[in-house]
Amino acid sequence: MDKIIVHGGAKLTGSVRISGSKNSALPILAATLLTKEPCVISRVPDLSDIHYMLTILSELGCEVERASGTVTVKAENVLTEAPYDIVRKMRASICVLGPLLGREKEATVSLPGGCVIGDRPIDLHLRGFEALGAAVRFRSGNVKVLAPEIRGATINLRGKFGSTVLGTDNVMMAAVLAEGTTVIDGAAEEPEVEDLANFLIAMGAKIEGAGTRRIIIEGVKELHGAEHDVIPDRIEAGTFLTAAAIIGNDVTITRAEPKHLKAILDPLSQAGFLISTGKDTVTLRSNGTGHPLKLETSPYPGFPTDMQAQMCALLSTVDGISVITENVFPQRFMHVAELKRMGANIELQGATAVINGVGKLSGAPVMASDLRASAALVLAGLKAENSTEINRVYHIDRGYESLDEKLNALGAQIERVKV
Ligand code: UD1
Repeated sequence: MDKIIVHGGAKLTGSVRISGSKNSALPILAATLLTKEPCVISRVPDLSDIHYMLTILSELGCEVERASGTVTVKAENVLTEAPYDIVRKMRASICVLGPLLGREKEATVSLPGGCVIGDRPIDLHLRGFEALGAAVRFRSGNVKVLAPEIRGATINLRGKFGSTVLGTDNVMMAAVLAEGTTVIDGAAEEPEVEDLANFLIAMGAKIEGAGTRRIIIEGVKELHGAEHDVIPDRIEAGTFLTAAAIIGNDVTITRAEPKHLKAILDPLSQAGFLISTGKDTVTLRSNGTGHPLKLETSPYPGFPTDMQAQMCALLSTVDGISVITENVFPQRFMHVAELKRMGANIELQGATAVINGVGKLSGAPVMASDLRASAALVLAGLKAENSTEINRVYHIDRGYESLDEKLNALGAQIERVKV
């Protein structure tokens, strides 16, 4: 198991290329199950979560080939039960349910357990499948959905924490092959949902409104093979910009999509960092100091929960009182205890973190608990005096392509040690 040692204090300068989006690539790869013909997906990031998804597709009977960032999947004949051993490693495996149900009229996966960012129910996914005519059965830790036929329906997918991203993806993937029209109200508006819809449309699906709260899907008899380029990862982009803000100097992210980044750029700019955007670039200039903020997470186009931990790290180092409220996953504060070990002054009041900026952090051995919390610890380590040793680095490798190498290319001093 690797660990990462961040030697704090080195400024960041230069440009870094943003990878394809993990959260787009995962459901798009699952969507290749909808056709017997080959699909070619490019700009697929090299991450362990992607590796798990490709393994699941292989186990389901697909031919999978990967050449650097391009993945070809041919799902000529597929099984309908995803293997527990792999599914349990990644919650996003749940998004094979929709395409298998759409194509084979039945699918079984093991139920995702809770995870460190809280309870992760799938009731909304299942509510959507039931509305399309599927029966849902639970047995031995598995959930099975099956339907004699999938019929279009009007479905509201809004839950008590707002819309569901993978739930919207799943229902959309089942509905593209349904008999008749499906209307999804309360749909997630995330750019990753729109990216998936664009891939499905390239496969012959009829979808309108993806990227808005109402998606309308006209079922078709079958889909065909297609090629698709995954959109840039807005969370990776936001993480590099926050890294630049925390320690200082000029960093430009390239091959990014500035229009997906507004909710991240606005607070960074409000905190006093200078931002300029180009067609597919964003530059952030920082002298390592900023102003405190009041922020809350919410579904897109709001400030993303996947940037909350990194923003907590930044605001821990900014003089004054900042307040961040987590509305999407109210328990997602595992990074707080670790940041406090590095000298941060953060008080949790329910789902709100009250951060009293301390200017300086100090290096400490810390434990990565989940993907974005780990990124927050790396960012804190950039600013900390001395060295920060981050254990359980596999969390970072699940969702960031070579985070340490990319930061080092900008001037950071990060070592990866095999333990
Ligand atoms: C996706 C992202 C994840 C991001 C999250 C919210 C992927 C692979 N993952 O996860 O990085 O943090 O969106 O932007 O794209 N909920 C229910 N019932 C359900 C489903 C969800 O109550 O059936 C709740 C969740 O507990 C949470 C909220 O709805 O409070 C949003 O979750 P959701 O959008 O479904 O997250 P994911 O799609 O799993």
